[in-house]
Amino acid sequence: MNRNAPIGIFDSGMGGLSVWRELRAQLPHESVVYLADGKNCPYGDRSPEEIAALTREAVEVLLAHGAKLIIVACNTATAMAIDFLREHYDIPFVGMEPAVKPAALATKSGTIGILATRAALAGGLFKATSHKYASVARILSAVGEGFVEAVEEGREGEPATVELVRAALEPMLREGADQIVLGCTHYPFLEAPLREVIGEREVTLVNPAPAVARRAKWLLEEADMLAEEGHKAECRFLTFADEDYRHRVEQKALEIAPKLEDKID
Ligand code: DGL
Repeated sequence: MNRNAPIGIFDSGMGGLSVWRELRAQLPHESVVYLADGKNCPYGDRSPEEIAALTREAVEVLLAHGAKLIIVACNTATAMAIDFLREHYDIPFVGMEPAVKPAALATKSGTIGILATRAALAGGLFKATSHKYASVARILSAVGEGFVEAVEEGREGEPATVELVRAALEPMLREGADQIVLGCTHYPFLEAPLREVIGEREVTLVNPAPAVARRAKWLLEEADMLAEEGHKAECRFLTFADEDYRHRVEQKALEIAPKLEDKID
């Protein structure tokens, strides 16, 4: 396979751009093809079968674009499909792990909170990880109701979004959670409302995106598949929705990576 082939990233929508940003920072020579479904988003209330089928469809598109490694930058899709993908395709896959471990090891209060979608919290991956660390920390979880829609519709800064965030977060804070795991790739875009609700309390937001980008880098190094030094990285954005949505995804990418000098086509 061509070492200058792109890395593929997939999410139900724009959330995976929180991973894309980290990947661009850590691997600036790599071309990246980002597929934001957009048409079937949000995934969080869909059935496991639907989510798995949509994820397989997305992977086929990224493979058709020559992806040498695929990041499933969606906790919900990872929970429902990562095992299948690893069994059925030859290229490496990186999924979103709920970052329970770092939070459980870092907590001072002994209580951590996990925010994620309904499907991700119901999935085996979250249950297994929580079970593993249940003796290390008390683990509280809550669905971020309406969070994904707020990010997709660009309502991060609205007062109503702060209230959505408060409804999910406040009960955990009241219980003393001092580590809040962002278990959905859309949630890092809600950092401002999350901080507003947290206020003066000493609480850490745990975003797994940097660790996921490091894992992708490590896998490519291991396979001797990093792009050549000096390779001119290109970033492309695809969607199952319409051109207007694709354009919004691309604009959001430009906003969060203002120093991105590479061509975006
Ligand atoms: N970004 C997806 C995740 O990480 C959002 C899922 C959804 O579309 O509900 O879970």
